[in-house]
Amino acid sequence: MEEDKRREIVKEYSNKDITIVWKPGICIHATFCWRELLEVFDPEKRPWVNPAGASTERMIMQIDRCPSKALTYYYNSKKETVMEEESTKKEEILVEMAPDGPLMVTGNIPVKGKDGKIELKYGTTAFCRCGGTKNPPYCDGTHIVNHFKG
Ligand code: FES
Repeated sequence: MEEDKRREIVKEYSNKDITIVWKPGICIHATFCWRELLEVFDPEKRPWVNPAGASTERMIMQIDRCPSKALTYYYNSKKETVMEEESTKKEEILVEMAPDGPLMVTGNIPVKGKDGKIELKYGTTAFCRCGGTKNPPYCDGTHIVNHFKG
């Protein structure tokens, strides 16, 4: 019940150009946002998102790295959430480890499941490194609960 309520929470933070949309219930705590742009995403502050902390372009770049899409944005002039241009963006693939968290793969990639089915993933995808996920091979944020180090 508490988890269901958390999943419904949506908060918005605007500057003159965009509105950042924050959905804490789907966050997997990859932590790239605050590790890479603390001026905007600071979990120690309230509110934790400061839409005046960096340029709009820099914030968009960071939001696009959010693997769970707990962070998205829309242009204030359009009022619709901007997801990545799935088929045209991120032609190069980048693999990196989130500290104490998932393996992050940025790019458009096919993922073959145990059943042999191929799922296409776009943008940034988080793969579990801790072994605790309930949604393998993807990270579901359980590494936080497990206090995973690595
Ligand atoms: S690394 Fe996130 S659930 Fe395992």
